[in-house]
Amino acid sequence: MSILKVGVIGTGGIAGLHLQAYADNPRVQIVAVADMNAQRAQSVADQWGAARAYSDPAELLADPEVQAVSICTWNNTHAQFAIEAIKAGKHVLVEKPMSRTYAEAQELESVVDAHDRVLQVGFVRRHSANCRVLKSFIDEGELGEIYYAKASVIRRMGNPGGWFADKEIAGGGPLIDIGVHVIDLAWYLMGSPRAVSVSANSYSKLGNRSHITTMPRYKVADYDPTKNTVEDMVNAVIRFDNGASLLVDASYSLHAVEDSLAVSVFGDKGGAELEPSLRIATEKHQTVLNVTPQLSSSTFNLTDGFSTEIENFVGTCLGEAESVAPAWHGAEIMKILDAVYESAALGREVTLSSP
Ligand SMILES: NC(=O)c1ccc[n+]([C@@H]2O[C@H](COP(=O)([O-])OP(=O)(O)OC[C@H]3O[C@@H](n4cnc5c(N)ncnc54)[C@H](O)[C@@H]3O)[C@@H](O)[C@H]2O)c1
Repeated sequence: MSILKVGVIGTGGIAGLHLQAYADNPRVQIVAVADMNAQRAQSVADQWGAARAYSDPAELLADPEVQAVSICTWNNTHAQFAIEAIKAGKHVLVEKPMSRTYAEAQELESVVDAHDRVLQVGFVRRHSANCRVLKSFIDEGELGEIYYAKASVIRRMGNPGGWFADKEIAGGGPLIDIGVHVIDLAWYLMGSPRAVSVSANSYSKLGNRSHITTMPRYKVADYDPTKNTVEDMVNAVIRFDNGASLLVDASYSLHAVEDSLAVSVFGDKGGAELEPSLRIATEKHQTVLNVTPQLSSSTFNLTDGFSTEIENFVGTCLGEAESVAPAWHGAEIMKILDAVYESAALGREVTLSSP
């Protein structure tokens, strides 16, 4: 059996889910981790049995035993470390978003194109059973031509603070952090069409709502309520070259009555709600049908998502599978996100050119 020797760069929150999925995969050996927080790197290496812990990712990339890496650092180093890793001969699974900007994504994509290495983008929600099943229905033509989709992720007081609230490091707020997941899901299910125009709005009316004391909130380790340079919420209409359109909203702070996450696609033969849970709408014999696929989890399942994502990455690195989320998908999504921010800043629709 072929074994893939992996390293993980960035050993914070999300790295734990990569490491768990690698540890559970019989074709993987975790050999090294790296984090600028040397103590964290060492304790994570000890926890997962990695032989080496580095405080500088460059040292991990120079480690000849490492064949593939997960990049789980802050958004500002995704493209940089991915480029360095590809050039060092490693396969790469880079966390979402692929980069902070479309320009960074294009640079990374061109390096990937020039090298014989795998670059997979960490669009983990694509790998969950609800999405896999719906995608197989769509690929078989069950929904017909998809011409409309909606993607929404609303947090009422969900600004995590720290680097997530720092535009320079994160590249933006709820759009690039959580909106990216639902936009990607809708775009993937729509068949990955090219975006041609975007009209968007961005609002920063409420701030991080740090004065609210009656509800729990997730805070990063270096949470500081006085620091926040990202938007509260965005909305957008995205038009595609096949005439389809996607309606989006994403918030960290909003006077909504509850948090929510919803992704729906609508075709000329049927429609589907992927989130909050998978249901398919269609018609047969002059009758409207709602069909509920029976899955062990009808909504996004974190463990299933990460283990299937890592299995797809490992299989692709070993030359036995095709990546579900290649570099150009990550770059197309960054093009859309950039255009949302640009349209909102200009206060008008922006048009996009084909590559
Ligand atoms: N797929 C998902 O569902 C999902 C969920 C959460 C986070 N993420 C993504 O994962 C990434 C990390 O998020 P997190 O929540 O784990 O953050 P985190 O702050 O918990 O962990 C990031 C780690 O990277 C390290 N790091 C940052 N810059 C570094 C550098 N230049 N060199 C070495 N180490 C560096 C930090 O010290 C930290 O330990 C982000 O890009 C985020 O968008 C994805």
